[in-house]
Amino acid sequence: MIRVDRQGSVAVVTIDRQDALNALDVATLTELRDRLSELAEDGDARAVVLTGAGEKAFVAGADIKYMSGLDPEQAKGWGALGHEAGRLLETMPKPTIAAINGFALGGGCELALACDIRYASSRAKLGQPEINLGIVPGWGGTQRLARICGLGIAKELVFSGRTIDADEALRIGLVNAVADPVLDHALEAATALAAKSPVALSLAKRLCNLTLGIDHTGGLELEANEFGELFASEDAKEGLTAFVEKRAPNFVGR
Ligand code: CAA
Repeated sequence: MIRVDRQGSVAVVTIDRQDALNALDVATLTELRDRLSELAEDGDARAVVLTGAGEKAFVAGADIKYMSGLDPEQAKGWGALGHEAGRLLETMPKPTIAAINGFALGGGCELALACDIRYASSRAKLGQPEINLGIVPGWGGTQRLARICGLGIAKELVFSGRTIDADEALRIGLVNAVADPVLDHALEAATALAAKSPVALSLAKRLCNLTLGIDHTGGLELEANEFGELFASEDAKEGLTAFVEKRAPNFVGR
């Protein structure tokens, strides 16, 4: 479930599916998209903080059990839903801040990348491990990671699928700061932003986003399509199934 709590003019959105480390299934991601869509239009919410429930995870990714049964068309729809949530975080006319309180992997890292600002707890672990499942990032990671950290770093992280700690995330610019407790830090920052002119802030965000260029949209569309197509491969089926069955994948190259 998704909780939205108000702290003055800051809206705190909490992804709460702790038995799966806040991994996003269809119901949770749909609810997240819908709440973000409402907050985008809500003049009383001047800044939005996104976080995960519990001590362990921000979001451990898209739900792998669900994905293991998808065909390419369904995977495209699944990718598109994640993209909708990401685009809302990236373009809503108010600042969005990720308070990364634990694992931010795959789709979790991608949602954080779509936020304007990222703060991590010292316990946070981040990464794009999709390659280990025989797939690729499908919610914007192939496009946004390079724009935030540079192409060389993005390729290394996306190709290797390795998980990094908060200090490394800070060093490569993936997060803006490491702070404990991270939610308090994010709330303080969001409250300070919420006191500024919403007109100037929304313009500042729109202008900063111009650097993304129209090709950003094309890149996201291409990723969404190819992510789906990949679900026709034996390796994607094997990688996703192996995770569900708690065994190592055996990739055959098709
Ligand atoms: N999807 C579904 N379930 C997940 C999940 C995910 N992404 N991540 C964790 N879970 C579930 C586990 O299956 C487990 O459930 P059960 O108890 O029912 O078996 C529960 O959450 C707790 O997880 P672990 O026992 O694995 O906890 P751990 O502390 O040993 O390991 C972890 C934590 C390293 C994060 C590990 O859970 C893990 O590797 N998770 C998968 C991370 C991942 O690969 N994410 C990317 C998904 S692909 C994606 O997001 C595609 C995209 O771009 C859209």
